[in-house]
Amino acid sequence: MRSIKEELNLKQKKILLRLDLNVPLDNERITDSTRIDKILPTIKFLLKNDTKIIILSHVGRPKGKIVNGLSLKPICENLKKKLDENIKLITKNLKEIDSNDLFSDPDEKIVILENLRFYPEEEENNNEFARHLASLADIYVNDAFSCSHRAHASIFEITKFLPSYAGLQLNLEIDALNKITSEIKRPVTCIIGGSKISSKINIIKNLIQKFDNIVIVGGMANNILRYKGFIIGKSIQEANCDQIIEEIFFLSKKNNCKIIYPEDVAVGKNLNGSAKIKNLNEISEDDLILDIGPRTIQIVKNLIEKSETILWNGPAGYFENPNFAKGSLEIVNKIVEKNKSNAIYSVAGGGDTVALINGEGVINNFDFVSTAGGAFLEYLEGKELPGIRALN
Ligand code: 3PG
Ligand code: MG
Repeated sequence: MRSIKEELNLKQKKILLRLDLNVPLDNERITDSTRIDKILPTIKFLLKNDTKIIILSHVGRPKGKIVNGLSLKPICENLKKKLDENIKLITKNLKEIDSNDLFSDPDEKIVILENLRFYPEEEENNNEFARHLASLADIYVNDAFSCSHRAHASIFEITKFLPSYAGLQLNLEIDALNKITSEIKRPVTCIIGGSKISSKINIIKNLIQKFDNIVIVGGMANNILRYKGFIIGKSIQEANCDQIIEEIFFLSKKNNCKIIYPEDVAVGKNLNGSAKIKNLNEISEDDLILDIGPRTIQIVKNLIEKSETILWNGPAGYFENPNFAKGSLEIVNKIVEKNKSNAIYSVAGGGDTVALINGEGVINNFDFVSTAGGAFLEYLEGKELPGIRALN
């Protein structure tokens, strides 16, 4: 994998820079800008080397359609302020753009193309779409480690058409994760939460062989509770997961890895509602499970206490509503407490997890914070991510 820092001939080159600017948004307001802040050095490096930058990114999961709330507009505004540069958001149909649409003003140095996932071709890893994007530039740079587990057009296929390099942040993340996985101290506990059940549930099987404890909270835990015969009401869940869950429990016994899932929960009637603590056999058909309960919190804290390494991706509940933030916050506080006495090595990753930690102002009390969630877990699995393979 070649780093863009090794390319000496950059002057006046047009760079397609794939970033992951998929920041958490609340009604088009950015609630955490870590993913933007982390890539500023790359943009500054490219500006210093007198290049023209075409930024590519997705936001959310619009599934191939234009969704107004998932525009890159607020992100473009944020970048403009931080870089003190005039940055144009190009909203014209991506498939019809040609180089005349870009940098018409010679002073213009950066443009952003609107959300790649407004086009189904992006997630289909479409060859024509990738070829067309590539035709806009001279060089491709991937500085989106957190998307590199996706074989999408702007991550994978595009590298077939342009000299391709790794960005500064991508290198940093990989170096850090390599170091962590080669020097890991046991017992290792991995906490997995969040709402992307389908992306993560398959990963667990492979993590079982590497870790001592896996704590499953957030959306994925609902599938386990249902598998165990409990009513989970209107809670988010994924269809057809029972077989995978069966394998997870089978492998955990075989590999002596403990699987921990909620023993009690906090439920609400809707996302904005108040919380009620319930035992698992008390959940009703119109309940939404939105956090772990106090007994579960205690179990997780005891486990953190006994661990030498903590790897964490995905909040324990719907922390955007403070009524359901308790589980996630107690996990943060316990890790920070142990970290302050140098009694644990702690790594956290994922857009929402980082937002949570940042919101508490304790990002420096973690040994490493990755911008990546799904990619972070797949990397821990030991997989070669498609986006990294494409650069090699
Ligand atoms: C993330 O938030 O993990 C990345 O932006 C990838 O998003 P995805 O899971 O929708 O592919
Ligand atoms: Mg995310």
